[in-house]
Amino acid sequence: MARTPRILHLLLALCSLSSSSIAVASASGAADAFLGCLAAAGVPPRFLQTPASPSYDALLRSSVRNLRYVAPGTPRPLAIVAAAEPAHAQAAVRCGRRHGVRVRARSGGHDYEGLSYASLDPCERFAVLDLAAFRDVRVDVARAEAWAGSGATLGEVYYAVGAASRALAFPAGVCPTVGVGGHLSGGGFGTLMRRYGLAADNVLDAVLVDAEGRLLNRTTMGEDLFWAIRGGGGESFGVVLSWKLRLVPVPETVAVFTVRRSRNQSASELITNWQEIAPALPRDLILRVVVQSQHAQFEALFLGRCSGLLVHMRAHFPDLGVTRADCEEISWIQSTVYFAFYSSSKPLELLLDRIGETGRYVKAKSDYVQEPIPQHAWESTWSWMEKPEAGLLILDPYGGRMASISPSATPFPHRKGNLYNLQYYSFWFENGTAASEKRMSWVRVLYREMEPYVSKNPRTGYVNYRDLDLGMNELEGNVTSYAKARIWGEKYFRGNFERLAAVKAMVDPDDFFRNEQSIPPLPAAKGWSSI
Ligand code: FDA
Repeated sequence: MARTPRILHLLLALCSLSSSSIAVASASGAADAFLGCLAAAGVPPRFLQTPASPSYDALLRSSVRNLRYVAPGTPRPLAIVAAAEPAHAQAAVRCGRRHGVRVRARSGGHDYEGLSYASLDPCERFAVLDLAAFRDVRVDVARAEAWAGSGATLGEVYYAVGAASRALAFPAGVCPTVGVGGHLSGGGFGTLMRRYGLAADNVLDAVLVDAEGRLLNRTTMGEDLFWAIRGGGGESFGVVLSWKLRLVPVPETVAVFTVRRSRNQSASELITNWQEIAPALPRDLILRVVVQSQHAQFEALFLGRCSGLLVHMRAHFPDLGVTRADCEEISWIQSTVYFAFYSSSKPLELLLDRIGETGRYVKAKSDYVQEPIPQHAWESTWSWMEKPEAGLLILDPYGGRMASISPSATPFPHRKGNLYNLQYYSFWFENGTAASEKRMSWVRVLYREMEPYVSKNPRTGYVNYRDLDLGMNELEGNVTSYAKARIWGEKYFRGNFERLAAVKAMVDPDDFFRNEQSIPPLPAAKGWSSI
């Protein structure tokens, strides 16, 4: 992504000749017109930042999770609209369309490829619509429902739910600083998925600004668009401002353990056996694995007591050797702290820390594993894991509720036939291209080595583990090419990709909401029977 300023200059010069952008005004002219339009629409200047504003940089970086996308030379947004109310978001969309400025919605800023605040196209005139202020979480215990703003973090949602009731939870990801907006848009899985499915499976309603700038709810947007926003990936269909969530029942006390087995404690054999055991465990139990350095860490959550958890472990996975001393009984809300910070005694208020650990460069990729990977392949991964530039592997088992939902119920298709999701994750703190190249190459080469063992035709991945190596959009005329987008799109969405494109053609035929991996409008000639 980082380009030398000289190349960037050349590219920017070429931009003025390009016909791909949505308006022909100069960048500064577009920015002025956009800002003037926002002011006329009643958005107060304090919610608008341009590169000339003293706090622009701090605001831009406020939720950036991957420094690769704020490196010098990276095209930056010509404005940041820090929306405080729905009318500001509506104005951003309307003014953006009118004046040739695209809008990139940002909720938690965790996109692995920085798509919520950076563009790979130096010609693109875009503004960031920052939703951090939309972070109210209102819990209705009696109805077991909640409304959460897109800008809330998962930690804020968990904290609010836990504060309202010890017997309710929301099934979503492990990292508390992830934003609700992007997470729910792409599916969202965590420690409750084997019992309750994805975060997106538990969305009951949503408030969205569409490509016309209208404010819609489930009834007014219709079921096709409501289907698309629950897993079809962020940005393509509109800007979701808030989500109505179904809360799920959990026991007041749950059981957790973390046990670590090193390479010379049969870790390869344990991982090999885990691959078939974990997806077949009772759905109240999840046992995930993190492989790092020369060990495998097995992490479990059971919706019950330690006594029950140990019965299951002895029956299904005695070789792991879990004992009563490994197991802790805590509340579900404490378990969210436990999995995020590896300690149940840390304060729950850590969930409210929106910033967490920043200052990292990141590269990740993902796979779905459908047949157990043979033990010899796991043996050979240790040599990868001992390299100084090594990252980690995260294995999240599916099965249970995940496998009993139809693959077309939401855009997230990875329901049946997958044993687990395998994530290759690398992060580093050193600046400079040498460090980046080394770390990214580790991820890419290991991914290539694993090809024989993972899903095929297509080799699938999870949209929330965004990976631009899978392919990027190209334009055909002034809209995204459907044919080119299929290359990456069917890897994330399999057979649901065409339906997503049909919804896109219906709700945003001009392709206003566009990024490097947004859903293209289905060409009219292809049609779609069920819409
Ligand atoms: P961000 O704001 O960057 O948005 C992501 C994408 O969605 C962008 O394209 C953006 O434009 C779009 N978007 C954002 N808000 C929108 C809105 N309101 N309306 C429409 N489009 C919107 N996943 C998982 O399933 N389980 C897990 O346990 C984890 N853990 C995890 C840990 C860490 C450290 C990271 C960095 C990431 C994860 N993830 C994850 C992946 C995470 O779910 C994914 O990156 C989400 O898209 C992040 O959502 P944010 O709102 O934070 O991202």
